[in-house]
Amino acid sequence: MNIHKENYNSKVLVEMWTDFIHWEKRRLGENGFLLNTLKKFHCQKIFDACLGDGADSIHLLKNGFNVTSNDLDNLFIKKAKENANKHNVTLNITEYDWRDFDKHFEDKSFDSIFCLGNSLTYLFEKKDQLKTLKNFLKIIKDNGILIIDERNYQSILDKREEILKKGKFQYSGKYVYCGDKIHGKPIEISDDKVRFEYTDERTGKQGYLVLYPFKSGELLNLLKEVGFTKIEQYSDYKKGFYPDADFYQYICQK
Ligand SMILES: C[S@@+](CC[C@H](N)C(=O)[O-])C[C@H]1O[C@@H](n2cnc3c(N)ncnc32)[C@H](O)[C@@H]1O
Repeated sequence: MNIHKENYNSKVLVEMWTDFIHWEKRRLGENGFLLNTLKKFHCQKIFDACLGDGADSIHLLKNGFNVTSNDLDNLFIKKAKENANKHNVTLNITEYDWRDFDKHFEDKSFDSIFCLGNSLTYLFEKKDQLKTLKNFLKIIKDNGILIIDERNYQSILDKREEILKKGKFQYSGKYVYCGDKIHGKPIEISDDKVRFEYTDERTGKQGYLVLYPFKSGELLNLLKEVGFTKIEQYSDYKKGFYPDADFYQYICQK
Protein backbone atom coordinates (compact mmCIF):
# COMPACT_ATOMS: atom_id res chain seq x y z
CA MET A 1 0.00 0.00 0.00
CA ASN A 2 1.23 3.44 -0.89
CA ILE A 3 1.23 4.85 2.63
CA HIS A 4 4.25 6.70 3.98
CA LYS A 5 6.93 4.04 4.48
CA GLU A 6 7.72 5.00 8.08
CA ASN A 7 4.06 5.18 8.86
CA TYR A 8 2.86 1.79 9.85
CA ASN A 9 1.13 0.97 13.05
CA SER A 10 3.66 -1.00 15.06
CA LYS A 11 2.67 -3.58 17.64
CA VAL A 12 3.84 -1.24 20.39
CA LEU A 13 1.69 1.59 19.04
CA VAL A 14 -1.40 -0.57 18.70
CA GLU A 15 -0.94 -1.86 22.24
CA MET A 16 -0.86 1.69 23.63
CA TRP A 17 -3.73 3.07 21.49
CA THR A 18 -6.61 2.29 23.89
CA ASP A 19 -4.78 4.06 26.71
CA PHE A 20 -3.84 6.91 24.37
CA ILE A 21 -7.53 7.46 23.57
CA HIS A 22 -8.90 6.82 27.07
CA TRP A 23 -12.36 5.68 25.91
CA GLU A 24 -14.35 7.20 28.79
CA LYS A 25 -12.68 10.59 28.45
CA ARG A 26 -13.19 10.58 24.67
CA ARG A 27 -16.92 10.17 25.32
CA LEU A 28 -16.89 12.94 27.95
CA GLY A 29 -15.03 15.24 25.55
CA GLU A 30 -17.42 14.74 22.66
CA ASN A 31 -20.43 15.00 25.01
CA GLY A 32 -22.84 13.12 22.72
CA PHE A 33 -21.66 14.76 19.47
CA LEU A 34 -21.53 11.51 17.51
CA LEU A 35 -24.85 10.03 18.67
CA ASN A 36 -26.67 13.36 18.46
CA THR A 37 -25.39 14.03 14.95
CA LEU A 38 -26.36 10.56 13.70
CA LYS A 39 -29.81 10.91 15.25
CA LYS A 40 -30.28 14.44 13.89
CA PHE A 41 -29.63 13.21 10.34
CA HIS A 42 -31.69 10.02 10.82
CA CYS A 43 -28.70 7.74 10.21
CA GLN A 44 -28.98 4.07 11.15
CA LYS A 45 -26.68 2.25 8.73
CA ILE A 46 -23.23 3.48 9.63
CA PHE A 47 -19.77 2.87 8.23
CA ASP A 48 -16.69 3.46 10.39
CA ALA A 49 -13.94 3.86 7.78
CA CYS A 50 -11.07 3.46 10.26
CA LEU A 51 -11.90 1.13 13.09
CA GLY A 52 -8.60 1.39 14.98
CA ASP A 53 -9.06 -0.28 18.39
CA GLY A 54 -12.86 -0.12 18.03
CA ALA A 55 -13.56 2.79 20.39
CA ASP A 56 -16.20 4.48 18.23
CA SER A 57 -17.67 1.42 16.46
CA ILE A 58 -18.23 -0.37 19.77
CA HIS A 59 -19.84 2.76 21.24
CA LEU A 60 -22.33 2.86 18.33
CA LEU A 61 -23.04 -0.88 18.45
CA LYS A 62 -23.84 -0.55 22.14
CA ASN A 63 -26.26 2.23 21.20
CA GLY A 64 -28.18 0.09 18.70
CA PHE A 65 -26.77 1.27 15.37
CA ASN A 66 -26.12 -0.99 12.40
CA VAL A 67 -22.35 -0.58 12.03
CA THR A 68 -19.84 -1.84 9.48
CA SER A 69 -16.25 -1.20 10.50
CA ASN A 70 -13.24 -1.04 8.23
CA ASP A 71 -9.50 -1.07 8.72
CA LEU A 72 -6.63 -2.49 6.75
CA ASP A 73 -4.29 -3.06 9.65
CA ASN A 74 -4.34 -6.60 11.05
CA LEU A 75 -2.97 -5.55 14.41
CA PHE A 76 -5.68 -2.94 14.93
CA ILE A 77 -8.38 -5.37 13.74
CA LYS A 78 -7.19 -7.98 16.23
CA LYS A 79 -7.17 -5.39 19.03
CA ALA A 80 -10.66 -4.16 18.08
CA LYS A 81 -12.01 -7.73 18.16
CA GLU A 82 -10.55 -8.24 21.64
CA ASN A 83 -12.16 -4.99 22.79
CA ALA A 84 -15.50 -5.97 21.23
CA ASN A 85 -15.42 -9.28 23.15
CA LYS A 86 -14.86 -7.39 26.38
CA HIS A 87 -17.93 -5.26 25.61
CA ASN A 88 -20.10 -8.20 24.46
CA VAL A 89 -20.68 -6.89 20.95
CA THR A 90 -19.74 -8.31 17.56
CA LEU A 91 -17.99 -6.21 14.96
CA ASN A 92 -18.85 -6.52 11.28
CA ILE A 93 -15.43 -5.91 9.71
CA THR A 94 -14.23 -5.14 6.20
CA GLU A 95 -10.55 -4.81 5.33
CA TYR A 96 -10.21 -2.39 2.44
CA ASP A 97 -8.05 0.56 1.56
CA TRP A 98 -10.17 3.75 1.51
CA ARG A 99 -8.94 4.38 -2.02
CA ASP A 100 -10.54 1.12 -3.22
CA PHE A 101 -13.94 1.51 -1.58
CA ASP A 102 -15.58 2.16 -4.95
CA LYS A 103 -14.53 -1.36 -6.02
CA HIS A 104 -16.05 -3.02 -2.96
CA PHE A 105 -19.20 -1.13 -2.03
CA GLU A 106 -22.31 -0.25 -4.01
CA ASP A 107 -23.03 3.45 -4.46
CA LYS A 108 -25.26 4.94 -1.75
CA SER A 109 -24.79 2.05 0.70
CA PHE A 110 -24.66 3.93 4.01
CA ASP A 111 -26.54 6.70 5.82
CA SER A 112 -23.31 7.92 7.33
CA ILE A 113 -19.59 7.34 7.08
CA PHE A 114 -17.23 8.53 9.72
CA CYS A 115 -13.48 8.85 9.55
CA LEU A 116 -12.43 9.95 13.01
CA GLY A 117 -9.38 10.07 15.24
CA ASN A 118 -7.38 12.24 12.81
CA SER A 119 -7.07 9.44 10.28
CA LEU A 120 -7.07 10.97 6.79
CA THR A 121 -3.69 12.39 7.73
CA TYR A 122 -2.20 8.91 7.01
CA LEU A 123 -2.35 9.88 3.33
CA PHE A 124 0.29 12.28 2.00
CA GLU A 125 -0.70 12.75 -1.64
CA LYS A 126 -3.50 15.13 -2.53
CA LYS A 127 -4.71 12.69 -5.20
CA ASP A 128 -5.08 9.94 -2.56
CA GLN A 129 -6.87 12.26 -0.17
CA LEU A 130 -9.27 13.32 -2.94
CA LYS A 131 -9.84 9.76 -4.13
CA THR A 132 -10.68 8.72 -0.57
CA LEU A 133 -13.12 11.58 -0.03
CA LYS A 134 -14.73 10.92 -3.43
CA ASN A 135 -15.19 7.28 -2.46
CA PHE A 136 -16.78 8.33 0.83
CA LEU A 137 -19.19 10.62 -1.04
CA LYS A 138 -20.05 7.88 -3.53
CA ILE A 139 -21.06 5.26 -0.97
CA ILE A 140 -23.11 7.63 1.20
CA LYS A 141 -26.85 7.75 0.46
CA ASP A 142 -28.41 10.98 -0.79
CA ASN A 143 -28.88 13.32 2.18
CA GLY A 144 -26.42 11.19 4.16
CA ILE A 145 -23.39 12.57 5.99
CA LEU A 146 -19.66 12.18 6.35
CA ILE A 147 -18.24 13.00 9.78
CA ILE A 148 -14.50 13.58 9.62
CA ASP A 149 -11.97 15.23 11.89
CA GLU A 150 -8.41 16.53 11.86
CA ARG A 151 -5.83 17.68 14.37
CA ASN A 152 -5.10 21.41 14.46
CA TYR A 153 -1.82 21.01 12.57
CA GLN A 154 -1.65 24.71 11.74
CA SER A 155 -1.01 25.45 15.39
CA ILE A 156 1.78 22.81 15.45
CA LEU A 157 3.35 24.29 12.31
CA ASP A 158 3.13 27.82 13.73
CA LYS A 159 4.67 26.80 17.05
CA ARG A 160 7.26 24.39 15.65
CA GLU A 161 10.31 26.20 17.11
CA GLU A 162 8.82 26.28 20.58
CA ILE A 163 7.63 22.64 20.44
CA LEU A 164 10.93 21.27 19.17
CA LYS A 165 13.26 23.43 21.28
CA LYS A 166 11.43 22.98 24.58
CA GLY A 167 10.31 19.45 23.71
CA LYS A 168 6.93 20.52 25.05
CA PHE A 169 3.69 20.15 23.22
CA GLN A 170 0.73 21.83 24.86
CA TYR A 171 -2.75 20.60 24.16
CA SER A 172 -5.75 20.22 26.40
CA GLY A 173 -5.95 16.41 26.36
CA LYS A 174 -9.73 16.70 26.73
CA TYR A 175 -10.67 15.74 23.19
CA VAL A 176 -10.23 12.71 20.90
CA TYR A 177 -6.93 11.52 22.42
CA CYS A 178 -7.29 11.97 26.14
CA GLY A 179 -5.13 9.35 27.88
CA ASP A 180 -2.90 10.63 30.67
CA LYS A 181 -0.43 7.72 30.69
CA ILE A 182 0.52 7.88 27.01
CA HIS A 183 2.03 11.12 25.82
CA GLY A 184 2.05 11.96 22.14
CA LYS A 185 4.18 14.82 20.85
CA PRO A 186 5.66 15.93 17.52
CA ILE A 187 9.42 15.34 17.34
CA GLU A 188 9.95 16.43 13.72
CA ILE A 189 7.89 19.14 12.08
CA SER A 190 8.02 20.28 8.50
CA ASP A 191 5.40 21.67 6.14
CA ASP A 192 4.78 18.28 4.54
CA LYS A 193 5.26 15.84 7.40
CA VAL A 194 5.06 15.62 11.16
CA ARG A 195 6.61 12.75 13.08
CA PHE A 196 4.81 11.96 16.32
CA GLU A 197 6.35 10.03 19.18
CA TYR A 198 4.07 8.26 21.65
CA THR A 199 5.53 7.31 25.04
CA ASP A 200 4.02 5.16 27.75
CA GLU A 201 5.15 6.87 30.95
CA ARG A 202 4.76 3.61 32.90
CA THR A 203 6.98 1.42 30.74
CA GLY A 204 8.99 3.89 28.66
CA LYS A 205 7.83 2.07 25.50
CA GLN A 206 7.60 4.25 22.42
CA GLY A 207 5.69 4.17 19.14
CA TYR A 208 5.85 6.50 16.13
CA LEU A 209 3.66 7.78 13.34
CA VAL A 210 4.53 10.06 10.45
CA LEU A 211 1.52 12.08 9.39
CA TYR A 212 0.57 14.65 6.79
CA PRO A 213 -0.14 18.05 8.39
CA PHE A 214 -3.21 19.62 6.79
CA LYS A 215 -2.85 23.40 6.75
CA SER A 216 -5.64 25.67 7.95
CA GLY A 217 -8.58 25.34 5.55
CA GLU A 218 -6.95 22.59 3.46
CA LEU A 219 -9.21 19.70 4.46
CA LEU A 220 -12.28 21.93 4.23
CA ASN A 221 -11.30 22.82 0.66
CA LEU A 222 -10.82 19.15 -0.27
CA LEU A 223 -14.28 18.37 1.08
CA LYS A 224 -15.75 21.15 -1.05
CA GLU A 225 -13.72 20.09 -4.08
CA VAL A 226 -15.13 16.55 -4.09
CA GLY A 227 -18.67 17.91 -3.91
CA PHE A 228 -19.99 17.91 -0.37
CA THR A 229 -22.66 20.58 -0.56
CA LYS A 230 -23.13 21.70 3.02
CA ILE A 231 -20.29 21.50 5.52
CA GLU A 232 -20.44 22.50 9.17
CA GLN A 233 -17.18 22.99 11.02
CA TYR A 234 -16.75 22.37 14.74
CA SER A 235 -13.77 23.11 16.97
CA ASP A 236 -13.39 20.59 19.77
CA TYR A 237 -17.10 19.82 19.16
CA LYS A 238 -18.12 23.48 19.47
CA LYS A 239 -19.75 24.91 16.35
CA GLY A 240 -17.53 27.34 14.43
CA PHE A 241 -13.82 27.83 13.85
CA TYR A 242 -11.53 28.54 16.81
CA PRO A 243 -7.81 28.81 15.97
CA ASP A 244 -6.69 27.35 19.32
CA ALA A 245 -8.76 24.16 19.19
CA ASP A 246 -6.99 20.81 19.45
CA PHE A 247 -9.17 19.11 16.81
CA TYR A 248 -11.66 20.17 14.15
CA GLN A 249 -14.73 18.15 13.19
CA TYR A 250 -16.74 18.48 9.97
CA ILE A 251 -20.28 17.32 9.31
CA CYS A 252 -20.56 17.09 5.53
CA GLN A 253 -23.90 16.56 3.81
CA LYS A 254 -24.24 14.88 0.45
C1 LIG B 1 -5.13 7.33 13.79
S1 LIG B 1 -5.87 5.75 13.68
C2 LIG B 1 -7.48 6.15 14.29
C3 LIG B 1 -8.28 4.97 14.64
C4 LIG B 1 -9.66 5.25 15.26
N1 LIG B 1 -10.60 5.78 14.30
C5 LIG B 1 -9.55 6.19 16.44
O1 LIG B 1 -10.27 7.19 16.50
O2 LIG B 1 -8.76 5.91 17.35
C6 LIG B 1 -6.08 5.61 11.92
C7 LIG B 1 -6.59 4.27 11.43
O3 LIG B 1 -6.82 4.37 10.03
C8 LIG B 1 -6.34 3.18 9.39
N2 LIG B 1 -5.95 3.51 8.01
C9 LIG B 1 -4.91 4.29 7.62
N3 LIG B 1 -4.87 4.38 6.29
C10 LIG B 1 -5.91 3.64 5.81
C11 LIG B 1 -6.40 3.36 4.49
N4 LIG B 1 -5.80 3.87 3.42
N5 LIG B 1 -7.48 2.57 4.38
C12 LIG B 1 -8.10 2.06 5.48
N6 LIG B 1 -7.69 2.30 6.76
C13 LIG B 1 -6.60 3.08 6.91
C14 LIG B 1 -5.15 2.77 10.24
O4 LIG B 1 -4.84 1.40 10.07
C15 LIG B 1 -5.62 3.13 11.64
O5 LIG B 1 -6.29 2.08 12.27
